[in-house]
Amino acid sequence: MTAKIEDIDACVFDAYGTLFDVAAAAARCKDALGDKAEPLAALWRTRQLEYTWLRSLMQEYVEFWQVTGDGLDYALASLGIEDDVLRERLMDIYMVLDAYPEVKEVLTTLKNGGLKTAILSNGSPKMLNAAVQNAGIDGVLDDSFSVDSIGIYKPHPSVYQMAVDGLDVDAGRICFMSSNAWDAAAAANFGFRVVWVNRFGQPQERIPGQPEQEITTLEALPSLLGL
Ligand code: LAC
Repeated sequence: MTAKIEDIDACVFDAYGTLFDVAAAAARCKDALGDKAEPLAALWRTRQLEYTWLRSLMQEYVEFWQVTGDGLDYALASLGIEDDVLRERLMDIYMVLDAYPEVKEVLTTLKNGGLKTAILSNGSPKMLNAAVQNAGIDGVLDDSFSVDSIGIYKPHPSVYQMAVDGLDVDAGRICFMSSNAWDAAAAANFGFRVVWVNRFGQPQERIPGQPEQEITTLEALPSLLGL
């Protein structure tokens, strides 16, 4: 198969929204949330991310588990939900979110094709480890890099640099995948080759950095790389 993206040594993946389904926690609590499941999922995700950006600017890093809980608390309060048992249930599910259905097979194809594979995520090591184990993909990942070791969140360039240093692969030979348009843009701006996994049909962000390919699920990735 002809590769559209050539000269790649490693594939690096964003975790939440790209490998793991961030909407799964609220969806699995639909019995308790009813019509509020979707607004809760959207607001939770938005606040979670906004708090990473705000805390990075404020130089007030705390790990992603705390930020995730804070985002959830804001979303629950905003929707007028007061329910400690439900909060705990949502957080428990977030620790072991489902992987998207194609993830394992795609990672296996990439590894069999001789590429290094890794996660680069805001998630704390404990969260990433739990999600990876739950999805049964530890055997097809070479590495997992968490911002927790540098104490600042994406899209700070030092986050993307962790993959370059940790894998010992030049940025221009790393193919980075994210479903988060802002993460895809920032990673391209940093110097990665970027495939935007636009699972949610979002418009492009108006910030520096341009992903070179856009796909809707990871299924299309191996053929872009000639595998
Ligand atoms: C991550 C968030 C941005 O996994 O999805 O880093």
